[in-house]
Order: sequence, then structure tokens, then C-alpha cells
Amino acid sequence: MGGDLSGRVALVTGAGQGVGVGIARVLAAEGATVVVNDLHGERAEATAALVGGTAVPFDVTDLDAVRAAVERIEGDIGPVDVLVNNAGVPADGFVPAPFLQSGPADWARFVDLNLYGVMNGMHATLPGMCARGWGRVVTISSDAGRTGAAIGVSLYGASKAAAVALTKHVAHEVGPSGVTVNCLSLGVMAGVLPEEFGAGNPIPRLGQPDDVGHAVAFLASDGAEWITGQVVGVNGGALT
Ligand SMILES: NC(=O)c1ccc[n+]([C@@H]2O[C@H](COP(=O)([O-])OP(=O)(O)OC[C@H]3O[C@@H](n4cnc5c(N)ncnc54)[C@H](O)[C@@H]3O)[C@@H](O)[C@H]2O)c1
Repeated sequence: MGGDLSGRVALVTGAGQGVGVGIARVLAAEGATVVVNDLHGERAEATAALVGGTAVPFDVTDLDAVRAAVERIEGDIGPVDVLVNNAGVPADGFVPAPFLQSGPADWARFVDLNLYGVMNGMHATLPGMCARGWGRVVTISSDAGRTGAAIGVSLYGASKAAAVALTKHVAHEVGPSGVTVNCLSLGVMAGVLPEEFGAGNPIPRLGQPDDVGHAVAFLASDGAEWITGQVVGVNGGALT
């Protein structure tokens, strides 16, 4: 998979570490001008240096900050053609816990980042994409948003499922303007669990950031223009 992304500006949120680094790396390799976001400026700078991109730190849960950053990017670099909503919980030490041991503060933390964060990015970039008649939004969701398990990820799964529903509906609204909106549903990535947990996958390993990067690059390409409102599993076949 892959596509020629030359001339496209791609904003990747939460790309200071983990999966987002792979996304930024593959998009840059495909020719995109990559804008690397993270909450932590030094992380964004490190990835930007790695991929030859530009670091633009901001908090995706703050709509005003997202709007201001997109305006700055559009002034300094160019219109955002591709938005990758990658920032998400688990961020820095997500501790699984049963739903009944959680409370409203936990609920807000997951919804703020995994749903509002995605809404904010879409709200700030979609008007420009629609006006220009071309755009791509790819949101990084999770298999935990598609199936249940007693592993303490109910809040995470619910908030990731909400982003899937948002994707499906918004895809209908902006499709006629030449903009596609899709989700990737990731399985367990390397580093989260010991590697032997990947042995049961049809592709018997855990995920690597570049696996996600290649799927994003394909969905961001011109060739993917008839693919929208979809949830694409990037999970070694763990869930179909
Ligand atoms: N790692 C996995 O196994 C896995 C599985 C399924 C889905 N996912 C999803 O993949 C995405 C990336 O996960 P990861 O494992 O690389 O996470 P990570 O915690 O390693 O990296 C996420 C990055 O996002 C940044 N971030 C957090 N809050 C932010 C905010 N408010 N604004 C801007 N940046 C913020 C963090 O600083 C961090 O650098 C997430 O959406 C996650 O839910 C991960």
C-alpha cells in the first residue's frame, strides 16, 4: 500500500512517540509535508527532526488551541490536506480498570481526548478541505471500540467507538465535497504487551508503528478517493 503524497500537507496529532512516529515517517516517505503535533513540544521536535517535518505542539482537547494552530499552519506551511487524529488514550501509562471502579473524572478524561480531540481536529480542518474540494481525515481507533472484553478498557473502548460513529456520519456530510473520513481499528501494538501475545494473530506478531503508517498513507492517497466512512482493521487479522 502507499501513495504519492507529494504536495500534500499532513497534520499528525500525538506524533511525538509511538504509533504517530510511524505515521509521520511513512507519510514523509510518501512525499507529504508533515506537521508533527504533540502535547509535549520536545517530543514533537524529536519526531519532526526524524522525518524532516515541522513541530507544532498543542493540546487537541482545546478547540481554540487547535483552531489557532491550524490557522498558523495554513499561514506558514500551507492548507492542511490530511488530518490524522492519532493522539489518544492510552497516553503515558494508561492503567486498565473495570468500569465500576471508574468515576466521572475518568469518563471525562477518555471522552475529552478520544472523542472531543477528534471533533476538534475535524472542526478546525474540514471547512478548508471542503472549500478546496479535497481532503482526507484518518482517525486512529481501536479494536477495543468494536468488541468487548473483561480487560478493563470499557471507557477506552466506548470513547474509541464514539470516534468511529463520528467518522461514519461525517463521511456522509463531507463526501460530496471531495473529502474522505475513515478510521483505522488497531490491534495490540508492540510494547504494550509482551511479544508472545501476538502469536495468536493470523499474522503472528504485534503491530509496529509503520504498519499503521502504510494504511494511513493509502487512505490519504488520491487512489483511495472512493473509500470513506470505513473502519479498517490494522491488527494482524486479530478481529475481522
Ligand atoms: N498502542 C496500542 O496498542 C494501541 C492499540 C489500539 C489503538 N491505539 C491508538 O493509537 C494511538 C497512538 O497510541 P500510542 O500507543 O502511540 O500512544 P502513546 O501514548 O505512546 O503516544 C501518544 C502521544 O500523544 C500525545 N498526546 C496525548 N494527549 C495529547 C493531547 N491532548 N494533545 C496532543 N497530543 C497528545 C502524547 O504526548 C504522546 O506522545 C492512540 O489513539 C491509541 O488509542 C494504540
